[in-house]
Amino acid sequence: MSVKFFACSFLFVSICTLSSFQRKPAFDMKASAARGKETYIAYCISCHMEKGEGIEDVYPPLAKSDYMMADKKRSIQQVLRGVTGEIKVKGKVYNTEMSGFDLSDQEVSDVLNYLRNSFGNKGEVVTPEQVKALRK
Ligand code: HEC
Repeated sequence: MSVKFFACSFLFVSICTLSSFQRKPAFDMKASAARGKETYIAYCISCHMEKGEGIEDVYPPLAKSDYMMADKKRSIQQVLRGVTGEIKVKGKVYNTEMSGFDLSDQEVSDVLNYLRNSFGNKGEVVTPEQVKALRK
């Protein structure tokens, strides 16, 4: 067997390995955010409003929320367990209460992917696995 044969098979195996890595399904952010919009309409819009603007002094905004965008883990936990006590969103203090939601890992990831990429926000993906890990 020639060196050429080995070189060729090596190349073939490498190309196959590489392309199989690429074929690994990437997280579909668009689909997740589209589902998240439905979840938002069903569970969140009544307080945080249509454009995420909230209601002054009562319900904090999610649109361009420096508070929400500052900590991905914290917002996952807040959707699961609720929010109490004083928080500061876009320079304003809120001290009201939100109870947690009984949503699936995927619903939490979807609604946050929608919020983190709507209303002027731009943020990395939240996966259902990350939500699951924070339930404990
Ligand atoms: C009954 C009204 C109500 C509903 C419905 C509601 N929230 Fe809230 N939300 C609040 C209040 C009130 C606070 C602030 C609590 C505080 O002051 O401690 C808050 C805070 C937040 C925060 C952190 C603060 C911010 O503005 O960044 C996030 C994120 C959030 N809510 C997301 C959600 C999501 C996602 C849903 C739907 C699954 C939802 N909320 C549904 C009332 C609500």
